[in-house]
Amino acid sequence: MSGRPRVLVTRPIMEEPTRVLRERCDVTIHQNEFGIPRDELLRIVAGADAIVTMLTERVDAELLSAAGPQLRIVANHAVGFDNIDLAACTAAGVLAANTPDVLTETTADTAWALLMAAARRLGEGERLLRARTPWTWGPLMMLGQDVHHKTIGIVGFGRIGQAVARRALGFGMRVIYADAVELPKEVTEPLHAERRSLDELIGEADFVSIHTNLTPETRHLFGAEELRRMKRTAVLVNTSRGPVVDEAALVEALRAGEIFAAGLDVFEHEPEVHEGLLELDNVVVIPHLGSATVDTRNAMGMLAVENVLAALEGRRPPTLLNDEVWEARNG
Ligand code: DGY
Repeated sequence: MSGRPRVLVTRPIMEEPTRVLRERCDVTIHQNEFGIPRDELLRIVAGADAIVTMLTERVDAELLSAAGPQLRIVANHAVGFDNIDLAACTAAGVLAANTPDVLTETTADTAWALLMAAARRLGEGERLLRARTPWTWGPLMMLGQDVHHKTIGIVGFGRIGQAVARRALGFGMRVIYADAVELPKEVTEPLHAERRSLDELIGEADFVSIHTNLTPETRHLFGAEELRRMKRTAVLVNTSRGPVVDEAALVEALRAGEIFAAGLDVFEHEPEVHEGLLELDNVVVIPHLGSATVDTRNAMGMLAVENVLAALEGRRPPTLLNDEVWEARNG
């Protein structure tokens, strides 16, 4: 026994954060690229002082109890934390943290890439060439939808939604947003962003980009009815969490031409992708790559590690989710 704190990292993370963590802790990194089987996780978490978790691991009372009473922090290597039962962490007196901000711009870039690819049929064009299909330039060939000067509707106007809106201005687009809260003028005015109800936004937007958290209220926020009310020329982009969209309903809407196309980074039953989506040409699918760049994954790793080290050294983790646990200990 080294006397150093024990940290479990459930998937390999970037080299630099790994090095920083190893300098001060005994670190176990689970190496299975497909994730850690639940029973194994429950076994190897025993005795950990901190866990760096991914969005693929469910953090609940069972896991916290399997870890033991010495567990100080669960540091999610993601901004989304729907995999964490925050109430269970708080009840167990365990700090929980995520990695906001550092992935905002990169995720907005991904949303934008999907929006462009879906609107201009890039995936379909690529598949055509790769299949060595004979083709000749033609005035009616593979016509898409213009992006510039159209209206983008952003659902969930937090950090990432606002970063998408900043990009939209460069395309001369009109920005509308739907959010549970009215954003202050300092945020909306530079973006010329106008608030709408979700219903209004759905009917008005040429592009709908989803940036909400997954909560019981946002599960299936987009179902058959919402999709039917979108413009037939509209494009739906989802880089938030898959279950916000009813995937079966989306397949039907795309099949029936109720909307023009979709660009998806996330899936309802990830990592499974609805077979119907894979058969359709008017959808661009990528495997949850929203924040997947070298710089951003490094920054996410460093922030997750800083959250762990802060908790272990008695400092307030910089991006803590359950302040009440910190206050109860240090207030
Ligand atoms: C997050 O951080 O929540 C993303 O989905 C992971 O890239």
